[in-house]
Amino acid sequence: MTTLIDRARIIESQGIFIGGSARIFDIPGRKILMTLLDSGLFPNSKVLDVGCGCLRGGYWLIHFLEKDCYFGIEPDSEMLHAGVSILMEPEEIERKKPRFNFNHDFDFTVFGQTFDFIVARSIWTHACKKQISTMLVGISQTASDGGVFLTSYIKASILRPDYKGTRWVGRSHTSDEVGVVAHSFGWIQKECEKHGLEVQEILDEALNFGNQTWLKITRQQ
Ligand SMILES: C[S@@+](CC[C@H](N)C(=O)[O-])C[C@H]1O[C@@H](n2cnc3c(N)ncnc32)[C@H](O)[C@@H]1O
Repeated sequence: MTTLIDRARIIESQGIFIGGSARIFDIPGRKILMTLLDSGLFPNSKVLDVGCGCLRGGYWLIHFLEKDCYFGIEPDSEMLHAGVSILMEPEEIERKKPRFNFNHDFDFTVFGQTFDFIVARSIWTHACKKQISTMLVGISQTASDGGVFLTSYIKASILRPDYKGTRWVGRSHTSDEVGVVAHSFGWIQKECEKHGLEVQEILDEALNFGNQTWLKITRQQ
């Protein structure tokens, strides 16, 4: 039987981006599931995985969730197809019936569905401020009552200044360029307020990974 890391290496050997290092491929995915569980995930929660890539987190979420509960958006169709056909077991895809969409507009309404959890791992670490604002609109439109948005980010500092550029930085369906960006927590807080949302950092070391910190965004009380 192949391990998850073996399967990630097969995808990588085909020249397809797997979201990070194959050697530790399973860790960010496990932490995505752990972070959602820590925030109240149930097997029947409806989950949207934004920029789901080759299902590094989706693998764990699809296994945990019931049928018809997992939704993924990923504009890099080659990456997503590799995840579905190489990372996932065919019988698990058949059983759980995950749904996917390839839009690159951060349009969360495409499934005609509200979500208990929206997760974006290693997305705000590449997105520009306009794209983050668009995602916040998407959350207001599609988060269920009590819905939770979990996103990882790199906090701006003297060493990593607040990103003011206007485009995505890093690998994507249109670029092979490597790179990450940082955002100011203060700016994120203000932007959330504009959309009727509130944000808090999750500082639990068991859930965070690498230089990224989880943010938990919910509707203002
Ligand atoms: C660093 S990878 C992270 C993938 C996945 N979330 C994970 O943790 O493995 C960033 C992902 O964002 C996707 N992406 C790039 N532009 C996007 C867009 N406009 N909308 C949605 N996803 C996008 C990339 O194709 C890539 O799969």
